Amino acid sequence: AEIMKGGYDHFMMKEISEQPDSTFNTMRGRIDFKNKNIILGGIKQYLSSIRRSRRFQMIACGTSYHSCLAVRSLFEELTGVPVSVDLASDFMDRSPPIFRDDTCIFVSQSGETADSMQVLKYCRAAGCLNVGVVNSVGSSISRETDCGVHINAGPEISVASTKAYSSQFIALVMLALKISNNVIDNRERHEEIINGLEEIPNLISKVLDKKDEIRDISLKYLHGKDSMLVVGRGYQYASALEGALKIKEISYIHAEGIQAGELKHGTLALIDDKMPVVAFATQDSFSPKVNSAIQQITAREGRPIIIMSEGDKMIDQSKASACIEVPKTVDCLQGLVNVVPLQLMSYYLSVAAGNNPDRPRNLAKSVTVE
Ligand code: AGP
Repeated sequence: AEIMKGGYDHFMMKEISEQPDSTFNTMRGRIDFKNKNIILGGIKQYLSSIRRSRRFQMIACGTSYHSCLAVRSLFEELTGVPVSVDLASDFMDRSPPIFRDDTCIFVSQSGETADSMQVLKYCRAAGCLNVGVVNSVGSSISRETDCGVHINAGPEISVASTKAYSSQFIALVMLALKISNNVIDNRERHEEIINGLEEIPNLISKVLDKKDEIRDISLKYLHGKDSMLVVGRGYQYASALEGALKIKEISYIHAEGIQAGELKHGTLALIDDKMPVVAFATQDSFSPKVNSAIQQITAREGRPIIIMSEGDKMIDQSKASACIEVPKTVDCLQGLVNVVPLQLMSYYLSVAAGNNPDRPRNLAKSVTVE
């Protein structure tokens, strides 16, 4: 195991650090950056049926569920088809109607998650088209779906999922691009996104270069706390949920991902000078609303750690505990960059608390029981 860690203390840090390569590998052979083309051999035979779907239903658990949330609005924007995203366990509790012309997309790192497998069985019986977005080749989900996209992130050993998230995110973006590349008025947006994807491995490296700064901020403001909030909206809501999950599962600090627009509907009551807050405030069309959420927090003596775009003058840093600047990319891809500081924070908080981040208590890597 020590050799497999490749010089890192833990698999988790190795896997976080691998993301420039793993995201590249997800795109390798699938994106022709020169001709702005997407090649997904695994869904080729079914592409015309997928394009005829009137609804996309995404199913997953945990981190994989967050990757679905991260791409949902892009999917809807590009395909013009409504997208539902469900936790597998909740989906089974509801047993909702599924139409034969629905496309269900199952996202799973292991491909063995029992809750997701159960939904897949249900969907097979309903006769819809089932697509897998899976890391483990030959796994149950990749075998039982009609077609799919392997994310090619390489083995993920750490219980806390990191590189699978970024690769699932990219695989789903490629899927949305492929499904919609017959629509003429999408062309400029497609090119923008494909150019953005090409830069992602490099931008992730730039965030990784800040790991000492991120460690110091984490230890100074978050270590030893009982509870914290992670706030974001729009494309960054998924980043907030995923960041909070990472913190919970390996740092054992209670963390809650909050949609920034929901603060005033309840959570604002928790804000005071003691409640740690991490806020995603990178620039996009939602920034004015996020900035107003930050004001709501600072007006109640909250002192957030702000994750912001490099050099953004619109952010009021005066009442922040700290600001972490990250490189800017296309709005719908920014989550790929923004999740990295939270992965690093959870890692450093876990180690500082004396935990083994690779083996968090009470959790298993692959949840094969319901
Ligand atoms: C993430 O860090 C988790 N350990 C967990 O939420 C995981 O993402 C979930 O169990 C789903 O697993 P899967 O992707 O293998 O289906």
